[in-house]
Amino acid sequence: MRKKIVITYGTFDMFHIGHLKLLKRLKEIGDYLIVGVSTDEFNKEKGKKTMIPFEHRIEIVKSIRYVDKVIPEKNWDQKKDDILKYNVDIFAMGSDWEGKFDYLRKYCEVIYLERTKDVSTTELKESLLGINELSREELLKAFDILLELKKYFLD
Ligand code: CTP
Repeated sequence: MRKKIVITYGTFDMFHIGHLKLLKRLKEIGDYLIVGVSTDEFNKEKGKKTMIPFEHRIEIVKSIRYVDKVIPEKNWDQKKDDILKYNVDIFAMGSDWEGKFDYLRKYCEVIYLERTKDVSTTELKESLLGINELSREELLKAFDILLELKKYFLD
């Protein structure tokens, strides 16, 4: 019997457990999983700035055991061509994209999987910003202490 081919797309910046769980579930749904990883140029076009460069992101996704093939995602329009080129049976995305790719139903089955709760690259980036805020506050405190000490020893 012919293998059931599944395709998905994403940025996969700061690869996290939500990404891993999605890829695992997608591999369980089919036999062969293709993942389109968005290029830095395409992300720029979408107004998205990544922390990890494309070459690293695609290398990480490629090394996940559930992934059989990786391709670069360079623009919005390539999905239809990829589906036809790779004989895709199922096009799948996380539920944040619900309804957005229904137009591809002409070419294959389209499904949306529930996202893993409480984790996203955006949140990770925000917590990193939080850490920077904290260290700035700590630096200011340290500076105050130094000023106090200066009063004792130098003034
Ligand atoms: N995904 C998921 N569960 C999460 C986060 C992401 O299932 N907690 C899925 C998305 O729905 C998408 C794929 O993983 O189909 C790639 O998502 P991506 O946008 O790269 O990751 P996010 O963490 O959603 O990044 P951002 O916060 O920048 O949107």
